[in-house]
Amino acid sequence: MIHSQISTPSYNLFIGVWLLIGVIAFIYLLFKEAPYGRFSNKNWGPMVNNQLGWMIMEGIVIFTFLMWIPFDSFNWHTPATVMIGLFLLHYLHRGFIFPFMTRTKGKKMPLIIMLSAVLFNTVNGSLLGIWFSQFAHYADSWYRSPAFIIGLLLFLSGMAINWMSDYQLIRLRKPGETGYKIPWNGFSRYVSSPNLFGEIVEWGGYALLTWSLPGVTFLIWTCANLIPRAISVHRWYHQKFPEYPASRKILFPFIW
Ligand SMILES: NC(=O)c1ccc[n+]([C@@H]2O[C@H](COP(=O)([O-])OP(=O)(O)OC[C@H]3O[C@@H](n4cnc5c(N)ncnc54)[C@H](OP(=O)(O)O)[C@@H]3O)[C@@H](O)[C@H]2O)c1
Repeated sequence: MIHSQISTPSYNLFIGVWLLIGVIAFIYLLFKEAPYGRFSNKNWGPMVNNQLGWMIMEGIVIFTFLMWIPFDSFNWHTPATVMIGLFLLHYLHRGFIFPFMTRTKGKKMPLIIMLSAVLFNTVNGSLLGIWFSQFAHYADSWYRSPAFIIGLLLFLSGMAINWMSDYQLIRLRKPGETGYKIPWNGFSRYVSSPNLFGEIVEWGGYALLTWSLPGVTFLIWTCANLIPRAISVHRWYHQKFPEYPASRKILFPFIW
């Protein structure tokens, strides 16, 4: 557990720099898709097992988040405990359940992708961990605030859409299959990346319910990662399947 105190100016400066890197990453990803999943290729150096890569890069955030929280002296009787719980729920699923539900046997991802995701998750987990341990002060009345109530509803519905869509996409393959198909069910009827849409709604809700700079930072970084990916996925479906429905949007149902 880390006990050092971070000053407010240092914390804010770090977030500013981190956001700048996020904007650069967004622009880069608009031109070059991250090589994992359907875009995985061997031109990026050593490769690691896909499921192991997902477990390491997403599971690590549990530790980089919790290492900032002083378990003994932390006041667990505030809304911060619920916020910590929601964050852990997301990453326990993403790191230790989702990877083992995928049907990607034999598939690999570049080590560099795993390491860059480890960095992303370490920084975001730390920024939120430091927030809850050093800066956050939520009174019990926060539970009744519109920001908390609407944020929680968005977080839970985003998570539900994300999980449901991920598993609908995963189940397009029968066990043992490796290829890709056009999805026709759930939110896939409306957008090419329903799971990414759910993820953005989820972290939008989290930014709202925590009403915090690191929460907004995480949302911006999530958009920086997922908006370019959704554009690439949409383009990829149209190139691969001539019969792909023309009316389907990229990421936001009925809008874009
Ligand atoms: N917060 C963030 O910044 C962030 C960043 C990245 C990812 N994520 C989250 O991580 C999760 C996975 O992301 P992803 O980009 O890997 O999602 P994805 O490309 O949609 O893949 C999800 C799973 O479904 C399979 N799949 C997708 N489309 C398919 C199709 N048409 N036919 C057959 N199988 C299909 C994929 O297999 P393959 O792997 O073989 O393609 C993979 O196992 C999502 O929930 C996403 O929101 C979050």
